[in-house]
Amino acid sequence: METAVEVKHLSKYFDVPAGTLHAVDDVSFSIEEGTTMGIVGESGCGKSTLGRTIIHLLSPTGGQIFFHGRDITDVEGKDLKKVREKMQIIFQDPYSSLNPRMTISQMVREPLRVSRHLPKAEAEQELDRLMKRVGIEKRLYDAYPHELDGGRRQRVGIARALALNPEFIVCDEPVSALDVSIQAQILNLLMDLQDEDGLTMIFVTHDMSVVRHISDRIGVMYLGQMVEMAETEELFEHPLHPYTKALLSAIPTINIHQPMQRIALKGELTSPIDPKPGCRFAPRCPHACEKCQAAQQLRQIREGHLVSCCRAEELQ
Ligand SMILES: Nc1ncnc2c1ncn2[C@@H]1O[C@H](COP(=O)(O)OP(=O)(O)OP(=O)(O)O)[C@@H](O)[C@H]1O
Ligand SMILES: [Mg+2]
Repeated sequence: METAVEVKHLSKYFDVPAGTLHAVDDVSFSIEEGTTMGIVGESGCGKSTLGRTIIHLLSPTGGQIFFHGRDITDVEGKDLKKVREKMQIIFQDPYSSLNPRMTISQMVREPLRVSRHLPKAEAEQELDRLMKRVGIEKRLYDAYPHELDGGRRQRVGIARALALNPEFIVCDEPVSALDVSIQAQILNLLMDLQDEDGLTMIFVTHDMSVVRHISDRIGVMYLGQMVEMAETEELFEHPLHPYTKALLSAIPTINIHQPMQRIALKGELTSPIDPKPGCRFAPRCPHACEKCQAAQQLRQIREGHLVSCCRAEELQ
Protein backbone atom coordinates (compact mmCIF):
# COMPACT_ATOMS: atom_id res chain seq x y z
CA MET A 1 0.00 0.00 0.00
CA GLU A 2 1.11 3.53 -0.75
CA THR A 3 1.45 6.18 1.92
CA ALA A 4 -1.03 8.99 1.23
CA VAL A 5 -0.24 11.41 4.03
CA GLU A 6 2.80 11.67 6.24
CA VAL A 7 3.76 14.19 8.89
CA LYS A 8 7.21 14.39 10.42
CA HIS A 9 7.85 16.28 13.64
CA LEU A 10 4.84 18.48 12.96
CA SER A 11 4.27 21.32 15.42
CA LYS A 12 1.79 24.15 15.67
CA TYR A 13 2.32 26.74 18.39
CA PHE A 14 0.21 29.78 19.15
CA ASP A 15 1.59 32.91 20.77
CA VAL A 16 -0.76 33.80 23.60
CA PRO A 17 -0.38 36.50 26.29
CA ALA A 18 0.90 33.97 28.85
CA GLY A 19 3.57 32.46 26.54
CA THR A 20 3.74 29.92 23.73
CA LEU A 21 0.90 27.43 23.55
CA HIS A 22 2.03 24.05 22.19
CA ALA A 23 -1.21 22.94 20.50
CA VAL A 24 0.57 20.28 18.39
CA ASP A 25 4.06 19.31 19.47
CA ASP A 26 6.43 17.15 17.41
CA VAL A 27 3.87 14.74 15.99
CA SER A 28 4.90 12.13 13.40
CA PHE A 29 2.81 9.46 11.65
CA SER A 30 1.75 8.27 8.23
CA ILE A 31 -1.56 7.15 6.77
CA GLU A 32 -1.82 4.50 4.08
CA GLU A 33 -3.95 5.30 1.06
CA GLY A 34 -7.62 4.40 1.47
CA THR A 35 -7.44 4.00 5.25
CA THR A 36 -8.73 5.99 8.21
CA MET A 37 -6.58 7.26 11.03
CA GLY A 38 -8.64 8.05 14.11
CA ILE A 39 -7.40 10.80 16.43
CA VAL A 40 -8.72 10.75 19.99
CA GLY A 41 -8.11 12.72 23.15
CA GLU A 42 -9.73 15.15 25.53
CA SER A 43 -10.96 18.60 24.59
CA GLY A 44 -8.05 20.97 23.93
CA CYS A 45 -5.43 18.26 23.23
CA GLY A 46 -4.89 19.57 19.70
CA LYS A 47 -6.97 17.25 17.49
CA SER A 48 -8.52 20.00 15.37
CA THR A 49 -5.30 21.96 15.17
CA LEU A 50 -3.50 18.85 13.91
CA GLY A 51 -6.13 18.21 11.21
CA ARG A 52 -6.23 21.83 10.13
CA THR A 53 -2.47 22.15 9.96
CA ILE A 54 -2.13 19.06 7.77
CA ILE A 55 -4.54 20.46 5.19
CA HIS A 56 -2.95 23.93 5.32
CA LEU A 57 -5.81 25.77 6.98
CA LEU A 58 -3.11 26.68 9.51
CA SER A 59 0.57 27.06 8.75
CA PRO A 60 2.86 24.74 10.71
CA THR A 61 5.37 26.11 13.22
CA GLY A 62 7.78 23.26 12.48
CA GLY A 63 8.07 19.88 10.83
CA GLN A 64 7.02 18.58 7.43
CA ILE A 65 3.85 17.43 5.67
CA PHE A 66 4.01 14.99 2.75
CA PHE A 67 1.15 14.20 0.38
CA HIS A 68 1.75 11.12 -1.80
CA GLY A 69 5.45 11.46 -1.11
CA ARG A 70 5.65 15.13 -2.06
CA ASP A 71 6.74 17.65 0.57
CA ILE A 72 3.86 20.16 0.66
CA THR A 73 4.95 21.96 3.82
CA ASP A 74 5.77 25.21 2.05
CA VAL A 75 3.62 25.12 -1.10
CA GLU A 76 2.16 28.49 -2.00
CA GLY A 77 -0.05 30.22 -4.54
CA LYS A 78 -1.42 28.11 -7.39
CA ASP A 79 0.25 24.93 -6.14
CA LEU A 80 -1.33 25.39 -2.73
CA LYS A 81 -4.75 25.89 -4.32
CA LYS A 82 -4.34 22.61 -6.24
CA VAL A 83 -3.20 20.71 -3.15
CA ARG A 84 -6.02 22.18 -1.07
CA GLU A 85 -8.61 20.88 -3.54
CA LYS A 86 -7.37 17.36 -2.94
CA MET A 87 -7.66 17.82 0.84
CA GLN A 88 -11.06 18.64 2.27
CA ILE A 89 -12.51 18.98 5.75
CA ILE A 90 -15.88 18.10 7.23
CA PHE A 91 -16.75 19.99 10.40
CA GLN A 92 -18.71 19.08 13.49
CA ASP A 93 -21.28 21.74 12.84
CA PRO A 94 -21.87 22.16 9.13
CA TYR A 95 -24.07 25.09 10.12
CA SER A 96 -21.02 27.26 10.63
CA SER A 97 -19.39 26.17 7.37
CA LEU A 98 -22.48 26.43 5.17
CA ASN A 99 -23.57 29.85 3.92
CA PRO A 100 -26.99 30.56 5.51
CA ARG A 101 -28.05 32.71 2.56
CA MET A 102 -27.51 30.06 -0.11
CA THR A 103 -29.74 27.11 -0.90
CA ILE A 104 -28.09 23.73 -0.49
CA SER A 105 -27.99 23.07 -4.23
CA GLN A 106 -26.34 26.47 -4.84
CA MET A 107 -23.73 25.55 -2.27
CA VAL A 108 -22.85 22.20 -3.79
CA ARG A 109 -23.00 23.63 -7.33
CA GLU A 110 -20.57 26.45 -6.51
CA PRO A 111 -17.32 24.42 -6.35
CA LEU A 112 -18.38 22.51 -9.48
CA ARG A 113 -18.68 25.72 -11.46
CA VAL A 114 -16.04 27.93 -9.83
CA SER A 115 -13.25 25.43 -9.11
CA ARG A 116 -13.91 22.57 -11.51
CA HIS A 117 -15.17 24.92 -14.27
CA LEU A 118 -17.83 22.43 -15.35
CA PRO A 119 -20.23 23.72 -18.01
CA LYS A 120 -23.77 24.27 -16.77
CA ALA A 121 -25.37 21.03 -17.95
CA GLU A 122 -22.49 18.93 -16.71
CA ALA A 123 -22.50 20.71 -13.35
CA GLU A 124 -26.20 19.88 -12.96
CA GLN A 125 -25.52 16.21 -13.66
CA GLU A 126 -22.65 16.17 -11.20
CA LEU A 127 -24.81 17.97 -8.61
CA ASP A 128 -27.48 15.27 -8.95
CA ARG A 129 -24.87 12.53 -8.68
CA LEU A 130 -23.33 14.02 -5.52
CA MET A 131 -26.67 14.65 -3.83
CA LYS A 132 -27.78 11.12 -4.62
CA ARG A 133 -24.57 9.69 -3.18
CA VAL A 134 -25.08 11.48 0.12
CA GLY A 135 -28.81 10.74 0.20
CA ILE A 136 -30.30 14.20 -0.34
CA GLU A 137 -33.61 14.12 -2.21
CA LYS A 138 -34.27 16.51 -5.11
CA ARG A 139 -37.22 18.09 -3.33
CA LEU A 140 -34.76 19.55 -0.83
CA TYR A 141 -32.55 21.34 -3.40
CA ASP A 142 -34.06 24.76 -2.71
CA ALA A 143 -33.94 24.43 1.07
CA TYR A 144 -31.68 26.64 3.16
CA PRO A 145 -29.34 25.03 5.71
CA HIS A 146 -31.48 26.08 8.69
CA GLU A 147 -34.47 24.25 7.19
CA LEU A 148 -32.70 20.89 7.39
CA ASP A 149 -32.12 18.61 10.37
CA GLY A 150 -28.56 18.04 11.59
CA GLY A 151 -28.07 14.76 9.73
CA ARG A 152 -29.13 16.20 6.36
CA ARG A 153 -27.05 19.31 6.98
CA GLN A 154 -24.03 17.09 7.51
CA ARG A 155 -24.86 15.22 4.30
CA VAL A 156 -24.73 18.55 2.44
CA GLY A 157 -21.38 19.32 4.09
CA ILE A 158 -20.12 15.96 2.83
CA ALA A 159 -21.46 16.57 -0.70
CA ARG A 160 -19.68 19.91 -0.78
CA ALA A 161 -16.44 18.34 0.40
CA LEU A 162 -16.75 15.64 -2.29
CA ALA A 163 -17.48 18.14 -5.06
CA LEU A 164 -13.77 18.71 -5.75
CA ASN A 165 -12.94 14.97 -5.98
CA PRO A 166 -10.69 15.02 -2.91
CA GLU A 167 -8.25 12.22 -2.07
CA PHE A 168 -7.93 13.07 1.60
CA ILE A 169 -10.62 14.24 4.05
CA VAL A 170 -10.23 15.43 7.60
CA CYS A 171 -13.45 14.65 9.47
CA ASP A 172 -13.45 16.87 12.56
CA GLU A 173 -16.04 15.38 14.93
CA PRO A 174 -18.58 15.11 12.10
CA VAL A 175 -21.14 13.21 14.18
CA SER A 176 -20.62 14.64 17.67
CA ALA A 177 -23.53 17.06 17.39
CA LEU A 178 -25.97 14.45 16.03
CA ASP A 179 -28.45 12.08 17.69
CA VAL A 180 -27.00 8.61 18.17
CA SER A 181 -29.35 7.05 15.57
CA ILE A 182 -28.28 9.62 12.97
CA GLN A 183 -24.60 9.22 13.93
CA ALA A 184 -24.56 5.65 12.66
CA GLN A 185 -26.09 6.69 9.32
CA ILE A 186 -23.47 9.37 8.74
CA LEU A 187 -20.61 7.07 9.80
CA ASN A 188 -21.85 4.39 7.41
CA LEU A 189 -22.13 6.95 4.63
CA LEU A 190 -18.53 8.05 5.20
CA MET A 191 -17.32 4.44 5.20
CA ASP A 192 -19.23 3.67 1.97
CA LEU A 193 -17.79 6.72 0.27
CA GLN A 194 -14.34 5.72 1.40
CA ASP A 195 -14.73 2.22 -0.03
CA GLU A 196 -16.02 3.54 -3.34
CA ASP A 197 -13.47 6.32 -3.84
CA GLY A 198 -10.47 4.92 -1.96
CA LEU A 199 -10.45 8.06 0.19
CA THR A 200 -7.86 8.52 2.89
CA MET A 201 -9.26 9.99 6.09
CA ILE A 202 -8.39 11.45 9.44
CA PHE A 203 -11.30 11.05 11.82
CA VAL A 204 -11.16 13.30 14.88
CA THR A 205 -13.38 12.46 17.83
CA HIS A 206 -13.44 12.13 21.59
CA ASP A 207 -15.87 9.21 21.35
CA MET A 208 -14.00 5.89 21.71
CA SER A 209 -16.91 3.80 20.37
CA VAL A 210 -17.14 5.93 17.23
CA VAL A 211 -13.41 5.82 16.62
CA ARG A 212 -13.34 2.04 16.99
CA HIS A 213 -16.10 1.69 14.44
CA ILE A 214 -14.49 3.81 11.74
CA SER A 215 -10.69 3.68 12.13
CA ASP A 216 -8.01 1.36 10.80
CA ARG A 217 -5.39 2.92 13.05
CA ILE A 218 -5.77 5.20 16.05
CA GLY A 219 -3.56 7.90 17.50
CA VAL A 220 -4.15 9.00 21.08
CA MET A 221 -3.24 12.62 21.80
CA TYR A 222 -2.53 14.25 25.11
CA LEU A 223 -1.73 17.97 25.35
CA GLY A 224 -0.40 18.31 21.84
CA GLN A 225 1.57 15.07 21.76
CA MET A 226 0.86 11.65 20.35
CA VAL A 227 1.15 9.27 23.31
CA GLU A 228 0.07 6.01 21.67
CA MET A 229 -0.54 4.70 18.17
CA ALA A 230 -1.71 1.28 16.99
CA GLU A 231 -4.13 -0.59 14.75
CA THR A 232 -7.65 -0.24 16.11
CA GLU A 233 -8.21 -3.71 17.57
CA GLU A 234 -4.65 -3.85 18.91
CA LEU A 235 -5.23 -0.57 20.76
CA PHE A 236 -8.52 -1.74 22.27
CA GLU A 237 -7.18 -5.18 23.18
CA HIS A 238 -3.77 -4.09 24.46
CA PRO A 239 -3.81 -0.44 25.49
CA LEU A 240 -0.35 0.42 26.80
CA HIS A 241 -0.41 4.04 27.89
CA PRO A 242 -2.05 4.78 31.27
CA TYR A 243 -3.94 7.63 29.60
CA THR A 244 -5.35 5.33 26.90
CA LYS A 245 -6.34 2.84 29.60
CA ALA A 246 -8.21 5.59 31.42
CA LEU A 247 -9.99 6.66 28.21
CA LEU A 248 -11.04 3.08 27.47
CA SER A 249 -12.19 2.45 31.02
CA ALA A 250 -14.67 5.30 30.64
CA ILE A 251 -16.60 3.50 27.86
CA PRO A 252 -19.80 2.04 29.28
CA THR A 253 -19.57 -1.76 29.08
CA ILE A 254 -22.43 -4.20 28.70
CA ASN A 255 -20.46 -7.27 29.74
CA ILE A 256 -21.70 -7.91 33.31
CA HIS A 257 -19.27 -10.80 33.83
CA GLN A 258 -16.29 -8.61 33.20
CA PRO A 259 -17.13 -5.10 34.30
CA MET A 260 -14.31 -2.67 33.53
CA GLN A 261 -12.80 -0.85 36.47
CA ARG A 262 -13.27 2.79 35.67
CA ILE A 263 -9.95 4.57 36.16
CA ALA A 264 -10.58 8.03 37.54
CA LEU A 265 -8.07 10.63 36.45
CA LYS A 266 -6.81 12.67 39.35
CA GLY A 267 -5.41 16.18 39.16
CA GLU A 268 -5.81 18.75 36.46
CA LEU A 269 -4.80 18.99 32.86
CA THR A 270 -1.34 20.54 32.76
CA SER A 271 -1.15 23.81 30.84
CA PRO A 272 -0.13 23.53 27.18
CA ILE A 273 1.62 26.90 27.57
CA ASP A 274 5.44 26.55 27.74
CA PRO A 275 5.21 22.91 28.91
CA LYS A 276 8.08 21.23 30.78
CA PRO A 277 10.04 18.52 28.97
CA GLY A 278 8.72 15.47 30.88
CA CYS A 279 5.59 13.36 30.33
CA ARG A 280 2.62 15.76 30.22
CA PHE A 281 0.29 13.14 31.63
CA ALA A 282 2.45 12.43 34.71
CA PRO A 283 0.67 14.86 37.08
CA ARG A 284 -2.54 12.81 36.61
CA CYS A 285 -0.98 9.39 36.17
CA PRO A 286 -1.51 6.67 38.80
CA HIS A 287 1.87 5.15 37.80
CA ALA A 288 3.99 8.30 37.62
CA CYS A 289 7.59 7.95 38.84
CA GLU A 290 10.88 9.81 38.75
CA LYS A 291 11.67 8.69 35.18
CA CYS A 292 8.57 10.51 33.89
CA GLN A 293 10.29 13.87 34.41
CA ALA A 294 12.50 13.15 31.39
CA ALA A 295 11.22 13.74 27.84
CA GLN A 296 9.35 10.69 26.50
CA GLN A 297 9.71 9.31 22.99
CA LEU A 298 7.12 7.29 21.09
CA ARG A 299 8.68 3.86 20.65
CA GLN A 300 7.47 0.55 19.31
CA ILE A 301 7.01 -2.10 21.98
CA ARG A 302 4.58 -4.44 20.19
CA GLU A 303 4.29 -4.94 16.45
CA GLY A 304 3.06 -1.70 14.86
CA HIS A 305 2.21 -0.40 18.31
CA LEU A 306 3.95 2.74 19.57
CA VAL A 307 3.71 4.24 23.02
CA SER A 308 5.46 7.10 24.82
CA CYS A 309 5.19 5.79 28.40
CA CYS A 310 8.57 4.87 29.94
CA ARG A 311 6.85 2.23 32.12
CA ALA A 312 4.79 0.65 29.32
CA GLU A 313 6.67 -2.69 29.36
CA GLU A 314 6.40 -3.28 33.08
CA LEU A 315 2.73 -2.17 33.20
CA GLN A 316 1.64 -4.43 30.30
N1 LIG B 1 -6.14 30.25 17.09
C1 LIG B 1 -5.73 29.87 18.30
N2 LIG B 1 -5.07 30.73 19.11
C2 LIG B 1 -4.62 30.35 20.35
N3 LIG B 1 -4.80 29.11 20.86
C3 LIG B 1 -5.46 28.22 20.12
C4 LIG B 1 -5.97 28.54 18.81
N4 LIG B 1 -6.59 27.43 18.31
C5 LIG B 1 -6.49 26.48 19.25
N5 LIG B 1 -5.82 26.94 20.34
C6 LIG B 1 -5.47 26.18 21.55
O1 LIG B 1 -4.78 25.02 21.11
C7 LIG B 1 -5.12 23.90 21.92
C8 LIG B 1 -5.66 22.80 21.07
O2 LIG B 1 -6.91 23.21 20.53
P1 LIG B 1 -7.77 22.30 19.55
O3 LIG B 1 -8.97 23.07 19.15
O4 LIG B 1 -6.89 21.81 18.46
O5 LIG B 1 -8.18 21.09 20.49
P2 LIG B 1 -9.21 19.89 20.23
O6 LIG B 1 -8.51 18.66 20.67
O7 LIG B 1 -9.72 19.95 18.85
O8 LIG B 1 -10.37 20.21 21.28
P3 LIG B 1 -11.97 19.94 21.16
O9 LIG B 1 -12.16 18.47 21.46
O10 LIG B 1 -12.55 20.81 22.22
O11 LIG B 1 -12.40 20.31 19.78
C9 LIG B 1 -6.11 24.41 22.97
O12 LIG B 1 -5.39 24.73 24.15
C10 LIG B 1 -6.66 25.66 22.33
O13 LIG B 1 -7.08 26.59 23.29
MG1 LIG C 1 -11.61 20.21 18.00
